[in-house]
Amino acid sequence: MVNRSSAPILITGVGKRIGFALCKHFLQQGRDVIGTYRSHYDALDELEGARLIRADFTIQADIDHLVEVIKREYPQLRAIIHNASDWLAESEEIPAAETFQRMMQIHAAVPYQLNLALKDLLNGRAGDIIHLTDYVAEKGSRKHIAYAASKAALANMTLSFSALLAPRVKVNAIAPSLIMFNEDDSAEYRQKALEKSLMKVAPGEQEVIEAVVYLLKSHYITGRTLSLDGGRHLN
Ligand SMILES: NC(=O)c1ccc[n+]([C@@H]2O[C@H](COP(=O)([O-])OP(=O)(O)OC[C@H]3O[C@@H](n4cnc5c(N)ncnc54)[C@H](OP(=O)(O)O)[C@@H]3O)[C@@H](O)[C@H]2O)c1
Repeated sequence: MVNRSSAPILITGVGKRIGFALCKHFLQQGRDVIGTYRSHYDALDELEGARLIRADFTIQADIDHLVEVIKREYPQLRAIIHNASDWLAESEEIPAAETFQRMMQIHAAVPYQLNLALKDLLNGRAGDIIHLTDYVAEKGSRKHIAYAASKAALANMTLSFSALLAPRVKVNAIAPSLIMFNEDDSAEYRQKALEKSLMKVAPGEQEVIEAVVYLLKSHYITGRTLSLDGGRHLN
């Protein structure tokens, strides 16, 4: 077993964007982090000190390997942050059954399996599970039907796992709407997306980091979803 100074935070999907930013933040705070990644990017070298484990969540052997390594190397976890995601739209190219299966796999089946397999490691003075869901879990989406349904499944598991694991472990969700654009988003798309919320900004990763820190600090919030959506439901 590795001798660690603190119970690490497990974050899935740290290769880029929000997962990367969360991982970097907690490392800078002196917290041990276990990060999973699927694709290798040069930027992963910036996550010095993190225990990085490659896992493609469509492959069961990778999920089993991740659980086995964590259980072997760590007596405790401080938190699990389910960030890994695939924003797959319905399309002619991918059969509907495959789209649905892929979305449910990464957003529902993997968090379900990891929560059950690792819940007993979250037994320190404070333990947290945070599900990164999406505003569309409550609204639906014409172009990302399976994605929205799978995020709704994850949102629902927030309720079940919070009841199962209280009072030892708090389980909450963060439901973002627009946080950041993809590099190749057109100016027209960006403008349309910005217009969807009351706040009309893409706030960036820091907004998610602050929401995560807030939930981790709380001694009382559990079974809830924190909406990070710029008031989109009122627009
Ligand atoms: N960004 C936003 O504006 C926004 C809005 C609403 C909700 N959210 C939610 O916030 C979270 C972070 O968003 P993001 O934009 O940073 O996500 P992202 O850019 O799509 O990155 C997600 C991470 O998940 C990994 N991943 C994808 N498929 C995987 C698989 N099969 N196995 C293992 N890992 C896999 C990706 O790895 P690869 O690098 O290999 O692809 C990537 O590192 C997500 O849960 C997302 O749904 C974000």
